[in-house]
Amino acid sequence: MMRTTPFLLVLFLVLGAHSLSAKKVLSSAEFPALQCSLTGRWVNDLGSNMTIKILNANGDFIGIYYSAVSVTTKKVKVSPLLGSQHLNQPTFGFTVRWTFSDSITVFTGQCFVDDDGKEVLRTMWLLRSRVENIKNDWKATRVGYNEFKRLE
Ligand code: BTN
Repeated sequence: MMRTTPFLLVLFLVLGAHSLSAKKVLSSAEFPALQCSLTGRWVNDLGSNMTIKILNANGDFIGIYYSAVSVTTKKVKVSPLLGSQHLNQPTFGFTVRWTFSDSITVFTGQCFVDDDGKEVLRTMWLLRSRVENIKNDWKATRVGYNEFKRLE
């Protein structure tokens, strides 16, 4: 009895610590491969809304995008997006073909889970505008960042 009590105490401590650590939500810094699903509604730092509708078994997806801003003076309209996510990986890319302008935007990014367990999509984009001639090509492409959070 005298010899088994400390053993049981150690066993309880080890099992207790293990069950506590198993419940902890891992942040992307601790476990970079932690997945999040791209399907659903997202809003970015500009206030633009995006809905990713279908993600198939190959990782291909479609959706719609409603931008809060535009480089044109035209009325913003909902536009289709077409993208792809690496299977079992958080990296993805998609293209938005703007229906109200001649521009097109490609986004590339990664899905992270922050310390509060919230999903965040960190992206970079290239926005290609149409220019009248090749002399103006130098000013046709804008570059930027967007961060998307899930709309509940
Ligand atoms: C256009 O102005 O011709 C099309 C709209 C472009 C909107 C850009 S795409 C990158 C950035 N992120 C957004 O959510 N909107 C702007």
